[in-house]
Amino acid sequence: MQTIGAEKDLAGQKILVTAGATAEKIDPVRFITNHSTGKMGCALARRAAMRGADVTLVCANMTVEPPPFVTVVKAESAEDMFNAVTSRAPKMDVIIKAAAVADYRPKTVAEEKIKKHDGGMSIELERTQDILAYLGAHKPAGQFLCGFAMETENLIENARGKLERKNLDMIAANSLRTKGAGFAGDTNVVTLLTKDETEELPMLSKDETADRILTKINTLRKG
Ligand code: CTP
Ligand code: CA
Repeated sequence: MQTIGAEKDLAGQKILVTAGATAEKIDPVRFITNHSTGKMGCALARRAAMRGADVTLVCANMTVEPPPFVTVVKAESAEDMFNAVTSRAPKMDVIIKAAAVADYRPKTVAEEKIKKHDGGMSIELERTQDILAYLGAHKPAGQFLCGFAMETENLIENARGKLERKNLDMIAANSLRTKGAGFAGDTNVVTLLTKDETEELPMLSKDETADRILTKINTLRKG
């Protein structure tokens, strides 16, 4: 097994990973969310911990169990995740944001269950805060910030735009259109973008993808 005798090359590093999908309440029984099981974020947290890092996993509504030997902080909404992440961020050496964060939330949350009536209905939404953009704007010297981008078209172009706009050191781009990539599966196909490089990884298990991401971050930090 990879766990036994894993090289502790990340010992001494504080790594924060986010995983899962935030849920934004409409009323006491309904919410708005994104597809995300949390598998990719858990793979990153698991591998980082096995490689000796001090790992904090901020997770929202995952369908998988968090890995052992990591500090787990639960968040429900984008606002909870914002608070959980930004309060811990200044002390972190590396932050990897694999969570699917809702971009919009209902402007008001109904206190009682909304009853149906004839005809359609609409819900007014407002923007949530972009956690990653906030982290990029407040990044302490020496901290490494890695985002994820899930796209259905123009993968590299869109992901590169996010890398630049959010002041990231790296972004892991995956396309919903690629076989073996995406939400619920155990494999992923990602392209790692930095300011100067574009590295396409083959289809790998989420644990192997996590290892490649962590190794690249470690190499770039040392460089
Ligand atoms: N992200 C975040 N806070 C938000 C929205 C996104 O921290 N409110 C992070 C995600 O965790 C991910 C990265 O930003 O690491 C990119 O998320 P994505 O949804 O692909 O991009 P957006 O910038 O939200 O743009 P869009 O959804 O319009 O493509
Ligand atoms: Ca988004």
